[in-house]
Amino acid sequence: MTTKIVLPDSELPKQWYNIAADLPTPMDPPLNQAHLPVKPEDLEKVFPMNIIEQEMSTERWIDIPEPIREKLALWRPSPLYRARNFEKLLDAPVKIYYKNEGVSPAGSHKPNTAIAQVYYNKEFGIKKLTTETGAGQWGSALSMACSMFGLECKVYMVRISFDQKPFRKMMMQVWGGNCVPSPSPDTAFGRKILGEYPDTPGSLGIAISEAIEDAVQDEHTRYSLGSVLNHVMLHQTVIGLEAQKQMAIAGDYPDVVIGCAGGGSNFAGLAFPYALDKINGKDIDIIPVEPAACPRLTRGEFAYDHGDTAGMTPLLAMYTLGHAFVPQPIHAGGLRYHGMAPMVSRLVQDGLFRPMNIGQNECYKAAVMWARSEGFISAPETSHALAAVVAEARKAKEEGKEKTILFNWSGHGLMDLVGYDRYLRGELNDVDLTDAEIAEGLQSIKGLPKPAGC
Ligand SMILES: Cc1ncc(COP(=O)(O)O)c(C=O)c1O
Repeated sequence: MTTKIVLPDSELPKQWYNIAADLPTPMDPPLNQAHLPVKPEDLEKVFPMNIIEQEMSTERWIDIPEPIREKLALWRPSPLYRARNFEKLLDAPVKIYYKNEGVSPAGSHKPNTAIAQVYYNKEFGIKKLTTETGAGQWGSALSMACSMFGLECKVYMVRISFDQKPFRKMMMQVWGGNCVPSPSPDTAFGRKILGEYPDTPGSLGIAISEAIEDAVQDEHTRYSLGSVLNHVMLHQTVIGLEAQKQMAIAGDYPDVVIGCAGGGSNFAGLAFPYALDKINGKDIDIIPVEPAACPRLTRGEFAYDHGDTAGMTPLLAMYTLGHAFVPQPIHAGGLRYHGMAPMVSRLVQDGLFRPMNIGQNECYKAAVMWARSEGFISAPETSHALAAVVAEARKAKEEGKEKTILFNWSGHGLMDLVGYDRYLRGELNDVDLTDAEIAEGLQSIKGLPKPAGC
């Protein structure tokens, strides 16, 4: 009886898969401040040119440079597990497989792109990177990658998570990163927000504005984003490419593919290689899962919006709740973002994915069931995927249908125990977001251009 399928180092993918080559509908171009399509030069103060080229590439397969593969090999290929104990607990006609991305040194999928981004910045001669982080998984992944390649790293951490998760900050410090709470007094935008809202919990949108403001001041500094952009989706496809080989060894093929969705990268990493199968005719239900407190795909609008709160980034065509929307401080800090990756958004628009939103109590319930059967303690973000797995298993039972479910276990929650503690004490609230609150957030995109056909 096989519980996990482990590939040898030699099976680590040699190329990333770029879904831009296969999209049924072309992407709407990002727009600059003048509302014209972005040119590479518009981005050169923010990103190095080698990453900008990758961001705009429509080549289907992109070679992974050897120095990146060498570092990824520290934990990749990641194991594919069959969750037999959880299956038994659910007592439904389902087989459940999952990719364990929690085995990376930082504890999540985030190092897959951190390693790649730091490598390309170093190749371009950059000495320092700035970034934002929600729950701290991304900030710790980038701090680790910067330490491996000898770059400096400054991390603006959303204040609510900074307070809830002090150990993440310490991890960053161990890897040499400099982590400050956002909004911070270190940037003009941070000072402005602190002046207006001294008690704000912060948001990813605010932290991104601060990190970009910091990066563009210095010619040897660039900004690094842990999700949302095309090149980040690209770097994460190692997950799905490995899973396809491992599922073939298991002799199975998924009916349902699930991932939690913050900016969209771990979901995309698993789902995009399967989305290609679906474009080519396979019948697969592909589900991105977002928090009920931040329902971009399920209650937001497909529109042009800024990726940050200050409006410094280009306009991206994506599902959004409006860049002024500040999500309630739920424990899944990495899912508290007003927008969604343009590539994921495009495929939702085209009907290839079926998004779902779930409240945090249901997610913690699933994560505790998981911990007490499979053992691993999930990140609060990952618990959204688990709750969707439970919902799909129940549905299969009701319908009397056998199903194979594959999901992405995007990270461990060993630094996130405060949320579990509050859940177990019955202290966690579900956020009831009203239509009026959603409409208020969307006010901030009024007057911006609309994507084609909207
Ligand atoms: C463990 C984990 N899963 C998922 C996410 C959500 O990000 P993304 O949608 O880019 O995968 C995060 C973000 O911080 C995370 O830490």
